[in-house]
Amino acid sequence: MSEVDPVAQPLPDRMPIRTREVETAYTAIYSWNYTSEFDKIRNLYAKALDQQWHAMRDLDWESAHRAPNYVTSFTVDGVPVHRSTFWKELDPMLKAEVQRRLFGHTLSNILHGEQGAMLIASQLVNVAPDMDSKLFAATQTVDEARHVEVFSNYLQRLGKINKITPGLGQVLDDVTGTTSWLHKMVGMQVVIEGMALSYFRRVRVETDDPLLKQMLHLVSQDEARHVAFGIRYLQGIVHKLSDAERSGAEDFAFEAVRRLKDPAVDRSIRQKLFELWEMIGLDPGETWARIWAELKGQGGVGHENDPIRDLVIPTLRKIGLLSTRIEVAFDQLFQAGTSGSQAISLDRQEPPADLHAWVIGQEG
Ligand SMILES: [Fe+2]
Ligand SMILES: [Fe+2]
Repeated sequence: MSEVDPVAQPLPDRMPIRTREVETAYTAIYSWNYTSEFDKIRNLYAKALDQQWHAMRDLDWESAHRAPNYVTSFTVDGVPVHRSTFWKELDPMLKAEVQRRLFGHTLSNILHGEQGAMLIASQLVNVAPDMDSKLFAATQTVDEARHVEVFSNYLQRLGKINKITPGLGQVLDDVTGTTSWLHKMVGMQVVIEGMALSYFRRVRVETDDPLLKQMLHLVSQDEARHVAFGIRYLQGIVHKLSDAERSGAEDFAFEAVRRLKDPAVDRSIRQKLFELWEMIGLDPGETWARIWAELKGQGGVGHENDPIRDLVIPTLRKIGLLSTRIEVAFDQLFQAGTSGSQAISLDRQEPPADLHAWVIGQEG
């Protein structure tokens, strides 16, 4: 097994010098109204103050397992690899190594996403038109800073920080660069946050690493507030938008999802998996074909564990940004990705009424 990983970059022992620049030109808004206009948002701000935590003080960094199960399930291109006979019979040491590297790849993207969230939340302080949202966005900026801190620390245990995948990079650029306050809210609070929250919920249940569990408990508590902010605020304003503004916001959300589900992104994850298989002496093409044939035969190929379907689309529907026009576009997108994927229009689940309970109130 070679230790050289051409995709990953070595973990720097100081902050990397590499930069990514995005031009922005938003209008900063002062509000002279200091009294609360939206109690539901002011309450979330107060809750954020109550729930602040300190990454280095409140987490037990010594409690991590040496070779934990980071996640027990992973789906690539709609194929739940963990259900295959191949995966179940794989040598436990090799399985742990593949899992460590694949999780490192995903967590690196989460880390880059957290940095994007920190930049965008700080923009929201400027562009939000009312004081309640500015105060909340200020707490969100601190929350995201903590998330960057914990995930970068945790990644040191995995050994590598991988490059950002092109689709996620593009979405972050779009949300960072847009001049529209509404589009920033939809892109950040609904699409990016919703996806992250759903993923964290699953990993928190699946992992047996006490440190990762504890970390995701605290991070998810923050993310649940961020998504709740998006839902509460957007629910209040979407029905007041003109048709053109509403369509524009729908298109922005759709474009963000399209980029995240771009085959080039899926390919990067599949490519990563193939490289890992090659490293442990397997023929990637032959292994993939075997897994595909077995699971396809069982009807087991589809979009399971898809955070977009799980939380993002139900949220768009709830806040009034899922017209029939855009639902058809989502259907085409999902069905182009994996044959046999059920139409979005048939999904009827609501986003959870209490996001905090949904993400935290489960055993695991
Ligand atoms: Fe975050
Ligand atoms: Fe967040």
